[in-house]
Amino acid sequence: MIEIKQLFKRFEGNEVLRGVDLTIGKGHTTAIIGSSGSGKSVLLKHIIGLLKPEAGCVFLDGVCVTDLNYEQLKDVRKKMAMVFQGAALFDSMTIAENVGIGLYSHTRMSREQIARRVTECLDWVGLHKIEKLSPAELSGGMQKRVAIARAIAMEPEILLYDEPTTGLDPIRANSINDLIVHLQNKLDVTSIVVTHDMNSVERIADFVAFLHNGRIRFEGTVQELRESEDVILRNFVEGVDEVETLAA
Ligand SMILES: Nc1ncnc2c1ncn2[C@@H]1O[C@H](COP(=O)(O)OP(=O)(O)O)[C@@H](O)[C@H]1O
Ligand SMILES: [Mg+2]
Repeated sequence: MIEIKQLFKRFEGNEVLRGVDLTIGKGHTTAIIGSSGSGKSVLLKHIIGLLKPEAGCVFLDGVCVTDLNYEQLKDVRKKMAMVFQGAALFDSMTIAENVGIGLYSHTRMSREQIARRVTECLDWVGLHKIEKLSPAELSGGMQKRVAIARAIAMEPEILLYDEPTTGLDPIRANSINDLIVHLQNKLDVTSIVVTHDMNSVERIADFVAFLHNGRIRFEGTVQELRESEDVILRNFVEGVDEVETLAA
């Protein structure tokens, strides 16, 4: 469903993506792992069309989205929603306004319909009666949930998460992992999760892609990841564990 072919992206002298090839199947959860600064967020931004590559294509249902202009991209964007790193909520708006923002600007739904949809989406992510609060009144974990509610409000086919558990304590991180799995099953979407959290990978992913030196160095199931003897991949996987143990 999503096919990334020979994607190249450079910022001035910094070659971030150097020929990324990756196929992401429908209806599964794919984790994209890689060390900090390896280009995971840059890759996600190409998938939703926020960045344009120097060369290569992201094909969505056979259409090269990286070639589309702004108008044409609107249709593609309706199929996708991204949960940004942090939570990227608007501080001056209520929770209800934050979750409903896409519905206000991109649909003809009435205020009542939007209010119902907002409450429904907050229910999905396990939040109740917080519509009138402001983001500052919520904990980091709750803000993440609101960001996820906002993403699912538009009924996307593809959900992209950028580091959804970063900055959360292990218990809250796991409850976000469980939520990602729950939504995956309930909404039957395609989920793409960028993370450097191996615990998260174990809990949520069907498939894993390892981004290293600007290319996909490993692509396979979680079981295949465990069995891989590639030293660089092993160092990444075990190195992360070590750092986490030290931090704990
Ligand atoms: N808009 C930008 N302008 C210049 N450099 C960027 C930009 N976005 C990302 N980069 C650089 O690209 C590299 C990869 O960044 P990023 O995708 O954010 O890494 P990560 O894997 O941690 O998400 C980094 O060296 C970063 O500094
Ligand atoms: Mg990032």
